[in-house]
Amino acid sequence: MTADRTSEPVRFTFEGRSVEALPGQTLGGALHADGVRILTRSFKYRRPRGYTCGYGACGNCPLTVDGLPGVNACERTVEGGEVVRRERGWPSAGVDVFRLADAAAPLLTAGFQFRLFTKTPWLAHRAEKVMAWVAGAGRRPSAEAAAATRATSHETRTVDVTVVGGGLSGLAAALGAAAEGASVLLVHRGVLGGRSLGRSGSAAGRHRTYGSDREAALALAADVAAHPSIEVLDGTAVATFDGVDLIVVSRRRRIQVSAPAMVVATGSYDVPLSFAGNDKPGVMLASAVRKLMHVERVRPGRRAVVVTENATGYEIADELLAAGVTVSAVVDPDPSARPADLVAALDAAKVPVLAGRPVRVRGLRGARSVVVAGGSGTRRLRADLVVVSRPERPAEELRWQRHYVEAGDTHAPKGAPTAHATDRTVVVGSAAGLPAQTLDDARDAGRRAARAAGAAPRRVDA
Ligand code: FES
Repeated sequence: MTADRTSEPVRFTFEGRSVEALPGQTLGGALHADGVRILTRSFKYRRPRGYTCGYGACGNCPLTVDGLPGVNACERTVEGGEVVRRERGWPSAGVDVFRLADAAAPLLTAGFQFRLFTKTPWLAHRAEKVMAWVAGAGRRPSAEAAAATRATSHETRTVDVTVVGGGLSGLAAALGAAAEGASVLLVHRGVLGGRSLGRSGSAAGRHRTYGSDREAALALAADVAAHPSIEVLDGTAVATFDGVDLIVVSRRRRIQVSAPAMVVATGSYDVPLSFAGNDKPGVMLASAVRKLMHVERVRPGRRAVVVTENATGYEIADELLAAGVTVSAVVDPDPSARPADLVAALDAAKVPVLAGRPVRVRGLRGARSVVVAGGSGTRRLRADLVVVSRPERPAEELRWQRHYVEAGDTHAPKGAPTAHATDRTVVVGSAAGLPAQTLDDARDAGRRAARAAGAAPRRVDA
């Protein structure tokens, strides 16, 4: 679901004031549109943190929603009426006195409390409580919030194939498995289509039929939703391993799923770049910027610098211009390695492409400028948005868990069967490594999983 400009807005309360959101928008998107850049502060040095990855991967956006702490603002869709507050910052997140801890960093090195209280463990325990309070960590949900999140049903389910991940490849694999006659359970954490909804082009020529990844994701999601053999558990679903079974927590249901075959379609992560100030609000990874523009319908900043190590950064610069953002420059260590047409398009739009790297982002509460070093020396560029675009990393945690269980790893749960054939775990899309497979590959992988599960062919897929 993407933010809808045509319907009536909804409202929620943020730290005592009413904030408007478009239907379908997340808390993170609505707060960004409202001008809120600092969503939390880091535990120890209380550095400001804001919308960074957009997909629940960086931990920079936890808020307390209706008494429940640790809710990712970038993932929680606004329903209306929520009471939301930040978790750290005193007297406010903008002006936090504990920020002084950053100045005392040399005294507060990792594990300093253990060295300081080696001989007085009782003092160490007390100090830890104080530190937890200062860090704003370990708070319990209110009794009402705890009751509202407790699982109300414990179910078991047996299907032929589980597909974990509802991005483009997961959707295609689910349809492939179902076409082979399998009963399919598709488990997805966010909105069906995932990060593909933010892509107005086609990553690595993944398909020919659709105009863009976004179009493809919407079409496949509709096919999946309408398919009688595919059940979707989406929203806040989480999956972990317990032997060969999958435990899925979806909204308030806890479901233990047994399936002879699994398709791992967990996608990939954006990879940050190391430079001073890369954690300031306003420094965002490529997918977050695309999500703000194309899914949340929010302008991500006013003036941007795009730091890139791939062609995607050039595409994003183009999309930013179309969204009304001034692009100060594209900074690339090797512009000559990028497609000439992308470089020429920016040239025509009078966006300079600088050969170099970012050195430091400046700004007290968020990005105000970025210092860039390159062949022509060092220069400072004004920007309240610094986009980092780099080659991604496969999200392969689930794949490896599955591998260890199958291999009879000693850390696997007791009784984990080792005879669970490896051809029953199929990895598709960018989780399989990059560049990502095509949609046809993912569909074929779904069919393979169905055959490995012993599903009876139901019909021949056209
Ligand atoms: S986890 Fe929400 S922005 Fe990264």
